[in-house]
Amino acid sequence: MISPESVAEILGMVRIEDIISDYVQLKKSGSNFKGLSPFSKERTPSFYVSPSKQIFKDFSSGKGGNAVSFVMDMEQVSYPEALRILAQKYNIEIKETQSQNPEEKQAQAHRESLMLSAGFAQDFFKAQLHTEEGKTIGASYFKERGFNAKTIEKFGLGYSPSAWDGLVKATQENAYNLSYFQELGLIREKEGRLYDFFRERVVFPIQNVSGRAIAFGARTLKADKNIPKYINSPESEIYQKSKVLYGIHQAKQEIVKQNNCYLVEGYTDVLSLHQAGVENVVASAGTALTEEQVRLLQRYTSHVTLLYDGDIAGIKASLRGIDLLLKAGLNIKVVLLPEGHDPDSFAQSHNQDDILAYLAQNSLDFIDFTIKALSIETENDPIQKVKLVKEVLRAIALIPDRITQEVYIKLCAQKLGFEETLLYQELRKEQQQHFVAQKASVENNPEVFQDYSTSEEKSSLQTESSTYAIEAEIIKALLQYGTEKVLFEALSENGDKETLSIPLAEYVVLEFSQDDLAPNEEIFRKMYALFAEALQENKPLPDEKTFTTHHEQDIVKRATDLLTSPYTLSPTWAKHNIQVAQVKEQLDRHARQLLLHFKLKHVQALQEKVLKQLQENQAEENYLITRYMQLGKAKRYFAEQLGMVII
Ligand code: UTP
Ligand code: MN
Repeated sequence: MISPESVAEILGMVRIEDIISDYVQLKKSGSNFKGLSPFSKERTPSFYVSPSKQIFKDFSSGKGGNAVSFVMDMEQVSYPEALRILAQKYNIEIKETQSQNPEEKQAQAHRESLMLSAGFAQDFFKAQLHTEEGKTIGASYFKERGFNAKTIEKFGLGYSPSAWDGLVKATQENAYNLSYFQELGLIREKEGRLYDFFRERVVFPIQNVSGRAIAFGARTLKADKNIPKYINSPESEIYQKSKVLYGIHQAKQEIVKQNNCYLVEGYTDVLSLHQAGVENVVASAGTALTEEQVRLLQRYTSHVTLLYDGDIAGIKASLRGIDLLLKAGLNIKVVLLPEGHDPDSFAQSHNQDDILAYLAQNSLDFIDFTIKALSIETENDPIQKVKLVKEVLRAIALIPDRITQEVYIKLCAQKLGFEETLLYQELRKEQQQHFVAQKASVENNPEVFQDYSTSEEKSSLQTESSTYAIEAEIIKALLQYGTEKVLFEALSENGDKETLSIPLAEYVVLEFSQDDLAPNEEIFRKMYALFAEALQENKPLPDEKTFTTHHEQDIVKRATDLLTSPYTLSPTWAKHNIQVAQVKEQLDRHARQLLLHFKLKHVQALQEKVLKQLQENQAEENYLITRYMQLGKAKRYFAEQLGMVII
């Protein structure tokens, strides 16, 4: 864990405009900077950086936040990883808190040693490409396959020499601990003698999301059928093959930008596509796709395009991978390459425009694909056609989202010439088993059930009558003017009215707590609590910066959204002609109106709830009617104060 002092030091040192200009060409625009969004494809700039507030806002993708948020979005890394990247840029030494227990610390240190060793091995293999042997054998092989120097460098490719002890000697000379290399499977022992696992092979490092080597794949250069073409280093504490996607580090930014990822089979497919300019591509090298790999992908996109050889084996292979992706709720497309091509050969023999055009014109949704895949064998046989429908419905039943299911049922009906209702019947049968299993799990787990019902209630509160919009305005006012004084009428001890001048935040908290109220929306409640706590503990009131540099990213994001959105208040605002510029001058009035609005909406929502209960619950009728009328009275009172008429 990074210590709070280090976090503060980093945040204090970082200039957001410096960080962002490493990625985006920024132009001055008033007091802000402006540029083309790095998160989407756009031609007119809608990406803003505010040096005074130290925040950015991308109106095309909706992203926004501080420098740390930007690095997180851009590099697709976690909060601590982003802080480390920033610290490195500003040469700030990070102090860690000692929260890990000794075993954890030791395990962490062990993993770090393994990574350092894997990094050393990668450098060793890379350097071998420049020795006499490496040049004539390794480098010339890559050249022959069409990989250029840029690709070789980008993916850290290398060569393992034919000597039995190349890596062994190198580690010894550099005083590395050999046991780590043994753990990584790179150095082995037989009858007391150490030897290299990879010999006379080109080497493909397998890197984690941050680009550090964790394992290796190696291809023989010999045509001998008795020698395995590829061998991989074994699993270790830093490498579980089910969790890794080859090329993810090099592809992640482009995956986010294109909001789509091409999925291929192996190393060479990834390399050739990259080299041809298609960079949003990864491989599940060596295994069938796993759930963990799908989850890793979902960090970056929910759209996947499977890219497979056009032969029957390729088609069969992609059918198997699809279930998992459907279940995860991913949108799937499949592209079958021309007969005789795999992604590697296709990319090597076409230019970027042709590849992109082919991919765009030949991507099938999964129904078309399944039809195509299975009709190779079914042709016009009706029995086979029923089999095909069942297969498609089985797949549709896996999709978690109802609307997507409906879309596919419609497509399926059209394309296969069946009645929609019939397909629905069949789908329901298909789902029955699934449903029974799920229901049992909900009933055995009341907590899940409770969660479900409250979230339904919550969403019913987010309609017209909800307090969401008004809460947003209140928090926005608190962020911008929380410390500004407003005049406030109160009753003094002897019962006289007196006028107090207190900070806006204090006024809002007083008004809220008098009626035992708080924002309903969770994020706003969290932000409001920072003001309430400061007042309760007699601490300085939080300000804009407290929020835009907060360690919780959802708070940073929401604060940025509020600070970069215009005042959008309700029709009353327009009616009273309150302009943005006037908000500050008329802060008293603004604040009072906000609170009245909130209370009005709140009471309205409560009243609707009571009405619903009344319709469902005869037993407490009298109580509910009284309550309903009380709330109506309160509603009319607030409305009157606002100068509105409510019946
Ligand atoms: P290929 O057999 O096409 O490999 O497998 P290649 O290196 O392109 O060989 P040639 O030149 O066509 O004969 C395609 C991908 O499948 C993976 C590799 O990642 C390779 O890039 N693969 C293949 C393995 O992981 N292990 C194997 O034994 C074979
Ligand atoms: Mn090949």
